[in-house]
Amino acid sequence: MESRFSAPGKIILFGEHAVVYGKPAIAIPVSDMRAVAWSEPGDGQLTINALDIEKQFSLKSKNNQFVTLAQTILQKTGSNEPSLTINLTSTLPQGSGMGSSAATSTAVCRALSGYLGVDLAANDVSELVFDAEKIVHGNPSGIDNTVVAYEMPVYFIKGQKPKTFEPGKLFHLVIGDTGIEASTKETVSNVRKMWKVQPSLMNGYFNEIERVTENGKKAIEAGEEDLVGELMDENHDLLNSIGVGHDTLEKLVEIAKENGALGAKLTGGGGGGNMVALAEDKTTQKKIHNAITEAGYRAYQTSFGEQA
Ligand code: MEV
Repeated sequence: MESRFSAPGKIILFGEHAVVYGKPAIAIPVSDMRAVAWSEPGDGQLTINALDIEKQFSLKSKNNQFVTLAQTILQKTGSNEPSLTINLTSTLPQGSGMGSSAATSTAVCRALSGYLGVDLAANDVSELVFDAEKIVHGNPSGIDNTVVAYEMPVYFIKGQKPKTFEPGKLFHLVIGDTGIEASTKETVSNVRKMWKVQPSLMNGYFNEIERVTENGKKAIEAGEEDLVGELMDENHDLLNSIGVGHDTLEKLVEIAKENGALGAKLTGGGGGGNMVALAEDKTTQKKIHNAITEAGYRAYQTSFGEQA
């Protein structure tokens, strides 16, 4: 039977953008939305067949995340180019802040290493995918590849070993998609331009985001959902202050709050993409989900933490 290799999406709960500047961030995997890859005999070369976008990549393709990844894996394992086609599909919307590029790279990494008979630990996968992420994101912090490869909630500081932590209860989330595809590379680069012009103002915002993230971690561990919600709101305001907000994100935040969300914020790169809202229970989660859908946007329900 053909083997399938998959990887989840992710949501950043606290600390995006500031994490690029050495501040901590907290992210969770979204296990029910995944990228899936499987291999079949090729036509003499290695081909990555990205089914959703109807594009095929070979080792000759320039400036491509999968090619960088495949070349590194072949080089590190001392393997020749195999005659192999790796098919790839994903339920994660692209350019939405849900880690689509890290998830697709991780699935391809696992399919190729699986075919080559190489057993990779989560940290090896994360490091390989990090190199590929640089093609897509320019100067990524490494949080996306980490949470996706480990598939666990992580407290992450750039350049340090990620720490996992135990949420004190089950948290219910709703993700709302603005439908506006936004490039993380661009929003990260816009933040850098602002940081170069006004370093002390921007560093002040990053320090505030750090405080919110540290308190967010404590509140998640203590199961204090009201406080988690308040801190998400604060984080959202700070993200607006550093210039990565969008009118449609405001609209989704408003819908979520009107329908009982304890807190709501943009997640990931911003400038479009997704919003994440916290609900106190399954009923409110469904209500927020339905309100977003009725307003004409895609929404997803997910959760993390201990079963109550
Ligand atoms: C993207 O998911 C998160 C950002 O903080 C960029 C990064 O950490 O590389 C915006």
